[in-house]
Amino acid sequence: MKVLFVCLGNICRSPTAEGVFRKLVESENLGGPIFVDSAGTHAYHIGQPPDPRAQAAAARRGIDLSGLRGRQATLEDFHEFDYVLAMDRENYEYLRSICPHALTYKIRLFMEFAPDYPNDEVPDPYFGGINGFDRVLDMIEDAAGGLVAEIRRRY
Ligand code: 4NP
Repeated sequence: MKVLFVCLGNICRSPTAEGVFRKLVESENLGGPIFVDSAGTHAYHIGQPPDPRAQAAAARRGIDLSGLRGRQATLEDFHEFDYVLAMDRENYEYLRSICPHALTYKIRLFMEFAPDYPNDEVPDPYFGGINGFDRVLDMIEDAAGGLVAEIRRRY
């Protein structure tokens, strides 16, 4: 089972989701069967570590994002991954526009899985205040729990 999280830059939301989800699946002893990765729709931050604000917010919750590096989503990702999870509608529409038609069923909005948030998007914290990163973490933790539950149900 392979799960890919996708945002715009791959330095704020999707590496946060990768770190949160990886920690959760490891704590539930699913770290072997579930492979986790993240990517960006755009090339601005290829090779860069997550934004220092994202790293700091995650570190406060015991999650280390320092080893992650930005990369751009590729066509192969749609073949390799079972879930390609977009952080917002713009990411979602972009992914659908480059994905082979037969594989678009893999692309979903990550917030679909969040039981406690009605939002369908994780808001982009890049240009916002520092509190944006904690809100992003709250939303991602909720959706990550829902996603683990869905994977357990289905497989
Ligand atoms: P992310 O945030 O998509 O959550 O990684 C952003 C990072 C960089 C930019 C925009 C959003 N940017 O415009 O460079």
